Amino acid sequence: MSAPRIVLLPGDGIGPEITASARAVLERLGKFELEEQLIGGAAIDACGEPLPAATLAACKAADAVLLAAVGGPKWDTTDPAAPRPEQGLLALRRELGLYANLRPVRPLPALLDASPLKREVIAGCDLLVVRELTGGIYFGRRERLADRAYDTCEYTVGEIERIARVAFRSARRRVTSIDKANVLETSRLWREVVTRVGREEFPGVELEHMLVDNAAMQLVANPRRFDVVLAENMFGDILSDEAAMLTGSLGMLPSASLGDPGKPGLFEPVHGSAPDIAGQGIANPLAMLGSVVLMLRHGLAMEDAAARLQSAIERALEEGLRTRDLGGSATTEEATQAVLAHL
Ligand code: IPM
Ligand code: MG
Repeated sequence: MSAPRIVLLPGDGIGPEITASARAVLERLGKFELEEQLIGGAAIDACGEPLPAATLAACKAADAVLLAAVGGPKWDTTDPAAPRPEQGLLALRRELGLYANLRPVRPLPALLDASPLKREVIAGCDLLVVRELTGGIYFGRRERLADRAYDTCEYTVGEIERIARVAFRSARRRVTSIDKANVLETSRLWREVVTRVGREEFPGVELEHMLVDNAAMQLVANPRRFDVVLAENMFGDILSDEAAMLTGSLGMLPSASLGDPGKPGLFEPVHGSAPDIAGQGIANPLAMLGSVVLMLRHGLAMEDAAARLQSAIERALEEGLRTRDLGGSATTEEATQAVLAHL
């Protein structure tokens, strides 16, 4: 078998630093063909657009794509005509058809005291956020006019059906479907379609519906009650940052974005480019390395390597590895070495 082809997209801020960590780990794990491409602000600086054609073509031809982070104050603008780094990521998700975003949240025993939440609230919590990624208000018609602006949220039955199936297939006991059906029409359609898919295709999985505001509260009050949390694009974005704190730090949460079988998946940490600490060598690389685990497992069907890396991460933490976000002082390089030591 030829070496899997992986496109690395370092992007902005701490992106290049945590990409170096991923590269070191991949080089230790096996033979991969690694190719770096530009995205986000780095691509705007180099070629004037956040997703250059060469990047998109390389990603389409790859077996998997590993992205670090995009965005930063340098490119922040409220001018609707100016290019934004985030547009590169959104266009890539759309172009690769990555409608299913999986964000597993499982506080590791070694980090139970690193979360701002009480140990007894988060111990034993193991949930998966399944976020719809290519529809909704992120991709609806929008416009800025002289004295107003609007964004539209639209979902088709087909878009809801396919993400609902991903959620039901991933569930061990229950799917909690998030919506705002007391206010939004898209939410009422969402609730109807998810209910039908569950009844007709997954009668063995329990389904409950929960309003998004209530879910935001329950996620910190009683996170253990959740198994699979199914949400549309923007609700999923917001709830997954909140859920990340169950693991102690946003710097711990990986994600996988998948489309139809046979197409390359995109793997990226949930956190952003952290411009406040960029270039200092102190970013926590573990969400990035966790994304490598998901890439090996879901993108490249290399379960053995995935399990080896996951256990190396956990053992490094058990031995006391703590970056700054976890209350310690380990640098990105030290964290990488601590994981490598167990591979
Ligand atoms: C995420 C991020 C992105 C999103 C941004 C960078 C566009 O917050 O992956 O959660 O909102 O989807
Ligand atoms: Mg987000």
